[in-house]
Amino acid sequence: MTRRRDCLTAGGALLAAGALPGRVLGQPAPSLPSLPSSPASDGEPARRPDVVYVPTPQEVVDEMLAIASVGPEDVLYDLGSGDGRIPITAAKRWGTRGLGVDIDPQRIGEANANARAAGVTDRVRFVQGDLFAMDLSPATVITLYLLPALNVKLRPKLLQLRPGTRIVSHDFAMGDWKPVRTVENGSRTVYFWTVPPAGRPYPKG
Ligand SMILES: C[S@@+](CC[C@H](N)C(=O)[O-])C[C@H]1O[C@@H](n2cnc3c(N)ncnc32)[C@H](O)[C@@H]1O
Repeated sequence: MTRRRDCLTAGGALLAAGALPGRVLGQPAPSLPSLPSSPASDGEPARRPDVVYVPTPQEVVDEMLAIASVGPEDVLYDLGSGDGRIPITAAKRWGTRGLGVDIDPQRIGEANANARAAGVTDRVRFVQGDLFAMDLSPATVITLYLLPALNVKLRPKLLQLRPGTRIVSHDFAMGDWKPVRTVENGSRTVYFWTVPPAGRPYPKG
C-alpha cells in the first residue's frame, strides 16, 4: 500500500496533496442528472489534479462492484473516474447507470471513447469537473480511488447522501470510519461503508 501511495503521489505531481448492503431503502430508483457528457478535449485541467491518474486493475474493479452488489437500479458515481473503467464495467455487466467525474479533460476523452467501444453510452456519462464541487445526491453507489486525506475531506459530503448509499474505496480508508467490510485482493484492499441514518455520526473503529 505504501508503495502504491508513493506512486499516486510520485514526482511531486500529486499532489497535495450501519450496514445496509443492497439498495437505498425506501427510495425510488434515482435518475442520472441531465448533465451532457463533456466533449473530448486536449486542454489542460482547470487546476492541478488532487491525485495523479493510476487505474484500478480490472480484477479490483470487479471486486469493488461485487462488494457493492451493484445492479440495474443503481446510480454509480466514480469520483475521479480516469479512463471510466468502473462505471463502464458496472454498466456492461450489471446494467448500472453511472456518472464519472474527472478534472482532467484527457481522461474524459478516454472514458467517452471507452464507453462508446463498450456500447454503454446510453447508461454512462463522463463530466469534466472537480469532484468536490459535484452534486452527489443522485448516487446510490460511490466509488473512489483517491488518497486517504481526500477521502477524509469528502466525508461531510458523503454523510449528506441518502442513508444506505454504498461507498467503496480502492486501497484507502476513510479516517476512523469503521468499514462494514474489508476485502483483500492480492496486494490491494477494498473498503466498503454505507451512509448511516441522517444526523448520525459514522461508527468509528
Ligand atoms: C487514481 S486515479 C483513479 C481512476 C479511476 N477511478 C480508477 O479507479 O481506475 C484518480 C483520478 O482522479 C482525478 N482527479 C484528481 N483530482 C480530481 C478532482 N479534484 N476532481 C475530479 N477528478 C480528480 C485524476 O485526474 C485521476 O484520473
